[in-house]
Amino acid sequence: MHKELQLFRASILHFPIVTEAPEHDYVFYSDGLLVTRNDKIIALGPYSTTIEGFSNEQVVDYTGKLIVPGFIDSHLHFPQTEMIASFGEQLLQWLENYTFPTEKKFSAPQYASEMADVFIEQLYANGTTTAAVFSSVHQQATDALFEAAYKQKMCLIAGKVCMDRHCPEDLQDTAEIAYQETKGLIEKWHSNDRLLYAITPRFAPTSSEQQLVKMGKLVERYPSVYIQTHLSENHQEINWVNELFPDCSDYLSVYEKFGLVNERSIFGHCLHLNDREWQRLSDLNATIAFCPSSNLFLGSGLFDLDKAKKYGVGVALASDVGAGTSFNMLRTMGDAYKSCQLKGIALSPLEGLYMMSQGSAHQLKLTDTIGNLNIGTHGDFVVLDPAFNKLSQLRTASAYNREVIELPQDII
Ligand code: GUN
Ligand code: ZN
Repeated sequence: MHKELQLFRASILHFPIVTEAPEHDYVFYSDGLLVTRNDKIIALGPYSTTIEGFSNEQVVDYTGKLIVPGFIDSHLHFPQTEMIASFGEQLLQWLENYTFPTEKKFSAPQYASEMADVFIEQLYANGTTTAAVFSSVHQQATDALFEAAYKQKMCLIAGKVCMDRHCPEDLQDTAEIAYQETKGLIEKWHSNDRLLYAITPRFAPTSSEQQLVKMGKLVERYPSVYIQTHLSENHQEINWVNELFPDCSDYLSVYEKFGLVNERSIFGHCLHLNDREWQRLSDLNATIAFCPSSNLFLGSGLFDLDKAKKYGVGVALASDVGAGTSFNMLRTMGDAYKSCQLKGIALSPLEGLYMMSQGSAHQLKLTDTIGNLNIGTHGDFVVLDPAFNKLSQLRTASAYNREVIELPQDII
């Protein structure tokens, strides 16, 4: 809600700077105060000293709760909301049997508009305040998504999916339609209030060379726009790309050939990259969206976070709903932890939190406005209750070596 001045007392945790060592470079106030004016953060610090400048003001008391920056989900699909976690196949079969039939429904503007409200509501309900979103192929559905985010003052990156082959005919655009519709959407929405545009070829197999050429032309024409797509998710998919683009040495080189790899590119998955691809992602400063829930659900593979660090490739955490099984980025972080364990990597909670706040904001070049709780940024934050049920109360008490206090009945 937009209010002139608001004061919040709670434990507060964030990463004020961009860092490779989130375990060290965090700031935590056990009893903190966060102050916003007109939705911007104007003060942050220990309660005892920060309150001095605001002694006559009313404080919203969240003592016992934890304020963290709003979560950033760097890759998910708006039209897959209703088919989240559809049963039991790997990527290409899953696309054909569940995804494409569902995405067809978004040709109806009224339906798309209703689902856009549901989608934005789901993001907020799960603490996600910024997301990079794939819409469907439909221009009007993409308009509806931006309109819903605009109404809710959300900082949203999104784009109309472009695909002109290897998918049902009634879901195909053409190279020219994709160009014109994307151009129209960029001019309408990019940098409109808190909204940003991402040029969105679905993935190499569903775009003709002509379409990828057109996407590259859009990147040249609108250099501040993002690019989002999928890369190296599934072995069948990779073999298919090799067949479709025989002149390209590997999957990433397809996107490179058409000028789609730069510091504003976000590549979902990146599970089976070769050394050249790792090196190029690093050289070109591109971002990987790590989608652990989806990778486990579709049996796609285990992301190699150590390799990303070795090559210096930036990683942002992402749900990849609807192949990801939850909108909740804390659950997604839990899946990242488990997925990393299977690679012999111990992902610390602070590193996980960094990859869905300041770390992602850095990759998206948005740390001036989101991802942290620094003064001057937007007041996008989440209030977490570490003792939200009996078990979490027990767990929290144990972690802090405290006695368990009985919860009131109504929240058990
Ligand atoms: N590759 C191409 N499209 C998709 C999609 O919708 N979801 C996932 N996980 N991978 C894709
Ligand atoms: Zn995806």
